[in-house]
Amino acid sequence: MQIIFHGHSCVQIVTNGKSLLIDPFLRGNPLAVTKPEDIQTDYILLTHAHTDHILDAEPIARANDATLVAMFELAEYMSAKKLKTVGMNMGGTYDMGFAQAKMVQAFHSSSIMLEEGQMIYAGMPAGYIIQVEDLTILHTGDTALFGDMKMIGERNQIDLAFIPIGDHFTMGPDDALQAARWYGAKMVIPVHYNSFPPIRQDAEAFVKRLEGQGQKGRVLAPGDRMEIHA
Ligand code: NI
Ligand code: MN
Repeated sequence: MQIIFHGHSCVQIVTNGKSLLIDPFLRGNPLAVTKPEDIQTDYILLTHAHTDHILDAEPIARANDATLVAMFELAEYMSAKKLKTVGMNMGGTYDMGFAQAKMVQAFHSSSIMLEEGQMIYAGMPAGYIIQVEDLTILHTGDTALFGDMKMIGERNQIDLAFIPIGDHFTMGPDDALQAARWYGAKMVIPVHYNSFPPIRQDAEAFVKRLEGQGQKGRVLAPGDRMEIHA
């Protein structure tokens, strides 16, 4: 399968002519090299409702007649826009046929910003454990470090994990290193950094520190593609 990193937390998994896209944020990301109209996908998974995770979900879903998968409240909000949605909740697994996504805990917040500065409650934030082509891929969503990452690591053989390192809104590198240890991921790709000034980080230094604790990491630049097979 092919993994495409579109910058920030936006990850695309392409396998056997099918695609799922996680957290599309392209137009608002100064580092993105992909435009929403360039994306072809069957599914869009949302970890939570913050703008830097859903900004391009609506246009991409419409252009592709794609199904949005999200926490129940966020899915209902998208459904009211006449989009195809699947609302789920923590601990549940949704079967897309070519891949299965289990919604797991993230320690963060989730709301939809209205222009007047008001917010709509969007349910709990989440991450996804995705089974695809005999591989287990974790996208943590935005999260702080929390103890049950250890349990998730014990109960899943994680081949590839996307973990935020930006600090300020999520874990910083120190906590992300602990998260990587607890998840026991065979390969870690840092996300959610450098898109804005408060989340500037040295991703290469993070990967070196991962190697120092016996784990593999890889820095992907926006637009980078990676082949991965079981
Ligand atoms: Ni967020
Ligand atoms: Mn975010």
